[in-house]
Amino acid sequence: MIHDALNIRRLTYADLPQIITVERRAFPTPWSLAMFVLELSKTSGVCLAAMRGETLLGYLICSRYDTVWHIMNIAVDPAHRRAGIATALIEGLIERIDDAAARYTLEVRESNVGAIALYERYDFRKAGRRRRYYQDNGEDAVIMWRTPSTLVGRWDDVPNPAPAR
Ligand code: COA
Repeated sequence: MIHDALNIRRLTYADLPQIITVERRAFPTPWSLAMFVLELSKTSGVCLAAMRGETLLGYLICSRYDTVWHIMNIAVDPAHRRAGIATALIEGLIERIDDAAARYTLEVRESNVGAIALYERYDFRKAGRRRRYYQDNGEDAVIMWRTPSTLVGRWDDVPNPAPAR
């Protein structure tokens, strides 16, 4: 059987049923349909699908607040992990934003070592935490930033950098 190549493209409202299926497989406390609709309605954001043929294998939701890009959500279907799909989504995002001065940030559960390793590969660096950010289990969020400075091992344009103890 010949497999379709992975295709990274913009998410549309027509993808919502498949997004919800992957979201429920990926997270203990999944986003609601309304949260995805809200993010997709923001014209300034970048929301990407990783498609193989007509099947959605993963997605990334990124919103712009002022000059900062917030990665709000990224998930890959559990049956298709460690195959470079999240990598392709992050590269697709950086390519589409296409701005060497762009600053990116995100929050991630401190126990999510896989996601943290993925972000570190793309020069996101830990810069503080939000205590008990996740209401389902009271876990802290680690705040990560990727900026022109973190790309060269510096911190001068990272807001309030603090050790993520
Ligand atoms: N453990 C350790 N490292 C991991 C990892 C894991 N579970 N998942 C990814 N990585 C790191 C590795 O360095 C990996 O490279 P390698 O496979 O060559 O070792 C690299 O990231 C790239 O991984 P990739 O295959 O592109 O990631 P993925 O498509 O499997 O997706 C997630 C990664 C985190 C999006 C996926 O595991 C997922 O959907 N998790 C549940 C949802 C979630 O936690 N999202 C992040 C919320 S902030």
